[in-house]
Amino acid sequence: MTDEMIIRQPDDWHLHLRDGDMLAAVLPDTARHFARAIIMPNLVPPVVTALDIAAYRDRIMAALPRGSGFTPLMTAYLTEDSDADDLAAGFADGLITAVKLYPAGATTNSASGVRSIARVMPVLEVMASIGMPLCIHGEVTSPEVDIFDREKVFIETVLDPLRRDLPELKVIMEHITTADAAAYVSAASGNLAASITTHHLMINRNHILAGGIRPHFYCLPVAKREEHRLALRKAATSGDSRYFLGTDSAPHPDHAKLQACGCAGIYTAPNTMSCLAHVFDEDNALDQLEAFTSVNGANFYGLPLNKGQLKLTRIQTPCRYLEAITAGQETVTVFDPGVDLHWHVEPLE
Ligand code: DOR
Ligand code: ZN
Repeated sequence: MTDEMIIRQPDDWHLHLRDGDMLAAVLPDTARHFARAIIMPNLVPPVVTALDIAAYRDRIMAALPRGSGFTPLMTAYLTEDSDADDLAAGFADGLITAVKLYPAGATTNSASGVRSIARVMPVLEVMASIGMPLCIHGEVTSPEVDIFDREKVFIETVLDPLRRDLPELKVIMEHITTADAAAYVSAASGNLAASITTHHLMINRNHILAGGIRPHFYCLPVAKREEHRLALRKAATSGDSRYFLGTDSAPHPDHAKLQACGCAGIYTAPNTMSCLAHVFDEDNALDQLEAFTSVNGANFYGLPLNKGQLKLTRIQTPCRYLEAITAGQETVTVFDPGVDLHWHVEPLE
């Protein structure tokens, strides 16, 4: 039995940091374990231009704990008015790592997102020609499509046609939640990868709805049936280089979650690595944890692997994580994995 592991420092390929008090409250939880993270641009207003992105990056750097080596990898929020030259220049400068496509209306602060792929095709063509990756929230938004089918229908009606039109475009299908998505990614010939969250490896839709409604397990894409969770576990623990961690840690104040119409998002940053060690341990795949958290994503994005290390130790007494953190006047509930966590996580100096 493995009781101690040292892995390369991980990266989070999908993270929400927000702004202001919330940014200051949540950033240390990610920076404690992760070397880099892809920062989501769905602020209000969204982070669209290179100028917006430079200013947001400065605010993140200013909020970092002293001495932290954490690097935010910035993304641009794609709108139907995005300027391809502005994004390409930001990419060339190293300011922008990727562009994020939200179908309009798909999730939190996505109203300025994309209604028609045809309208953003000129930008996507430029991105394909310079190797700039596109991160996609892969759900259709048509009200007639059942919410549990939105990812599958997106693959069939949007993603696959887009990839056929523009095979050179490097695409990350973010936070996949279905066996259909895993099958699609596994069958793809190139330029396609997928991120998987920690919570989608641990919960299915019963956790949200059986025996009472649990808003803290509600996120988008919403967790699906158990068979889908198992397919995600298989993909994540397989070592397949096309799958990597994107936590989608998405803090909301408790008062905004515990509402008649509550926000989507699960705050997993504090205990994510401990949860993942638990998951990979359960599936006898601890030897694949490093590939999923610290290697596959960097390779797909064409970035160097981290030099730092993280030590994971199995401990008898369950690890203790705060149930909630404070952000300004608000509290934010931390993901409850529903099991005791016995993997203690600490960076190696
Ligand atoms: O659950 C989610 N929360 N999914 C998203 O796509 C957005 C995120 C947020 O920003 O809160
Ligand atoms: Zn997200």
